[in-house]
Amino acid sequence: MKIAVVGVGYVGLVVGTGLAENGHFVTCVDREEGRIQSLLSGHLPIYEPGLEELTKRNIEEERLRFTTDFESTVANSLLVFICVGTPSLDDGRADVSEVMACAEQVARAMNGYTIIVLKSTCPVGMADQVRERVANLTTHPFDMVVNPEFLKEGAAVDDFMRPDRVLIGCDDVRVQEIMKELYAPFMRTGKPILCMSIRSAEMTKYAVNVTMAARISLINELANICEAYGADIGEVREGLMADSRIGSAYLFPGIGFGGSCLPKDVAACATFARDKNIPCDMLDAVSAVNNRQVATFIDRIFNYYGGSVSGKRLAIWGLSFKPRTDDIRHAPALRVIDALLEGDATVAVYDPVANRKVAEIYGDRILVGAKSYTVLEGADGLVIATEWREFHNPDFVRMGTLMREKVVFDGRNLYNPKVLANCGFRYFSIGRA
Ligand SMILES: NC(=O)c1ccc[n+]([C@@H]2O[C@H](COP(=O)([O-])OP(=O)(O)OC[C@H]3O[C@@H](n4cnc5c(N)ncnc54)[C@H](O)[C@@H]3O)[C@@H](O)[C@H]2O)c1
Repeated sequence: MKIAVVGVGYVGLVVGTGLAENGHFVTCVDREEGRIQSLLSGHLPIYEPGLEELTKRNIEEERLRFTTDFESTVANSLLVFICVGTPSLDDGRADVSEVMACAEQVARAMNGYTIIVLKSTCPVGMADQVRERVANLTTHPFDMVVNPEFLKEGAAVDDFMRPDRVLIGCDDVRVQEIMKELYAPFMRTGKPILCMSIRSAEMTKYAVNVTMAARISLINELANICEAYGADIGEVREGLMADSRIGSAYLFPGIGFGGSCLPKDVAACATFARDKNIPCDMLDAVSAVNNRQVATFIDRIFNYYGGSVSGKRLAIWGLSFKPRTDDIRHAPALRVIDALLEGDATVAVYDPVANRKVAEIYGDRILVGAKSYTVLEGADGLVIATEWREFHNPDFVRMGTLMREKVVFDGRNLYNPKVLANCGFRYFSIGRA
């Protein structure tokens, strides 16, 4: 099938490459010339494990192309996947302006029957609005499909190639069959393709993200109670996970969730609930707990230094919102950096892949280290914000010789408190007395 993918970000690039890998002819189009140029010269604009090799192979085998030529790409495609961003507005609402603008462009470029597939996460009812708008702009026949994406950054290739399920929101049985054919190669593991109404598909995406976010906020709240009473959230977590009704996923205590999906989708879901006067106390609490979690962690750092970090030098390990990605959107690490800079501290940061993106934001206001140990030189403390594998078993003796003051603020519970104490460190973690 000839496919257009509009928006070559974290989702579009994986979707386009994944579809090409399964034999389809895919043209990915983005409005950012620089992004397309970098792809054409063999450089991925994002870091995602396993993606570069796959992208290169499909370009070489001429199943995958990148362009800024929106019109001819859409005109030559049966399926157009919309994968543009839907970030948060100030009031928490999803900003759907890029989706609508993109749909209008598709409507003007269509050259015959087209299936418009909405992959971007949009509030319930958005696909109907898009359908109405497109119908006003074209005389060509078209169908709408909502096909939310569930990939996780850091494991996106695997998630897309071997999904837990594929969701197809669509009213037309023939279109459902085309979508099933498209995804058939991905479903050899026996996982289901679920067909449902367009609005149910839109809502399912929010339901999934809200549920995952709620689990994280719940474990964080439990961690805080543990800490106040001298219990250990690590032990409590083992008891929770052993219960088959609960399981282990999304139950890691820490400094809260970030990224481009969970914070914005919880907030957006709350706003469209309120639009219909549906109370959404649970959703509000999930966001509030998450915001408080990182604020409390920052307070702990300040309190340790007697209320002021002025003149202190703090090292930070981990900047991306989670390991195995360079995505720093809504990353807790950025909240920590902002607070420390506000408090007049010197901040030296290190991340295996997100250094460049953070340097672009802060410029010379922070020091960016090429290696994890270099940022520890002369540090009055180390903050751990992301649980990259390389931070799990550091050389504590070497760390101690480099740092001016041996204190670690661990926002991801990476270490055994007894080991740190034996090495002469003051150690603060989450939910452990
Ligand atoms: N990032 C994730 O892990 C993830 C997972 C599932 C779903 N989603 C959803 O998928 C959507 C895309 O997310 P993302 O993280 O890939 O976004 P992104 O910001 O990384 O990428 C969006 C891309 O779309 C391009 N774009 C915007 N308007 C365009 C237009 N009119 N024509 C051509 N290109 C255009 C931008 O230049 C950008 O490169 C969002 O709705 C998000 O909520 C994201």
